[in-house]
Amino acid sequence: MALSRLCSSRFLVFLVILSAIPIGIIISLELAKPPTHVYHYHSTGWFRECGKWDEQNRRFIVAFFEGGIGQIPVTGAEGEVLEEIPVVKDVDLSGNATLGIVIDRPRNRLLAVHGDPMGNRYGALAAYDLSTWKRLFLTQLSGPSDEKSLADDVAVDAEGNAYVTDAKASKIWKVGAEGKLISVIRNPLFVAKEWYKNLVALNGIVYHPDGYLIVIHTLSGNLLKIDLSSGKDEAKLIKVEGGPLTFGDGLELLSPTKLVVAGNPSGRLVESSDGWETASVVATFWGPKHRLATAATLKDGKVYLNHLVGIGYPKRKHAFVEAQF
Ligand SMILES: *[C@@H]1O[C@H](CO)[C@@H](O)[C@H](O)[C@H]1NC(C)=O
Repeated sequence: MALSRLCSSRFLVFLVILSAIPIGIIISLELAKPPTHVYHYHSTGWFRECGKWDEQNRRFIVAFFEGGIGQIPVTGAEGEVLEEIPVVKDVDLSGNATLGIVIDRPRNRLLAVHGDPMGNRYGALAAYDLSTWKRLFLTQLSGPSDEKSLADDVAVDAEGNAYVTDAKASKIWKVGAEGKLISVIRNPLFVAKEWYKNLVALNGIVYHPDGYLIVIHTLSGNLLKIDLSSGKDEAKLIKVEGGPLTFGDGLELLSPTKLVVAGNPSGRLVESSDGWETASVVATFWGPKHRLATAATLKDGKVYLNHLVGIGYPKRKHAFVEAQF
């Protein structure tokens, strides 16, 4: 039981990678001068699973693994350590982690996934006003009597529908713009043949402006395209030259033909010239391995990678690292 509980956590996979790096190497990696630009910020927490750049308000927004949301205004002199300011702390969700976030710009709100990485017994999607941080809705996706799940990451379409991946049972919840749970998308392609590859299943997800979703299955490295236009939510495997994209986590579209996959390696740039029927890995970027890249975001035309692990005492220091391809 205890073991299966642990195994149910995608988090365990990351800890395994992390613990494989000896402490001396971590120190030397920390002291090394980074080859690309880095925004460091002080934080109260060890783990930040997802971070996105909010262009309009010139700030990063980060999800707290211990539950909650913070903002990091980009101010001050170049090279200065920035400060994380908590903006959301939902007491009714305490004990849950906040995982994937996405900015729904036309509706001036943030969509955030709250989940239970250890017990897999609760999942929800919430929306918050980007100006006041007032919670606009909270939609429960799963509870203790449902199959075990891990609500993980989220994408939003042009109409404001949200798509939340389940990294445990490998499905996608569709939630309407007003917060109503509309449907659950399932497909045999979402499930890897080898059981152990489903320990961390569907994960990063993006909405493509041509009307489909692109989603990654972390441990198989499969990239999938889900056509939403037919109403049938048909899924296809994208043939990726240079793939599979194993250990791929958060996704971000840089343009309709370019996708960044954060994970291990830190960043992979994937391109498609045929509407994501096929694609190829065109470049790889290695950032600080010991901090583990988990999400990508676009800031002033540059890619920044959010890293899971904060290091430092008494205040943890986290890093957004520019990925150059
Ligand atoms: C997550 O939040 C729900 C809703 O309030 C709560 O019932 C559940 O116990 C929380 N999960 C954990 C692991 O504390």
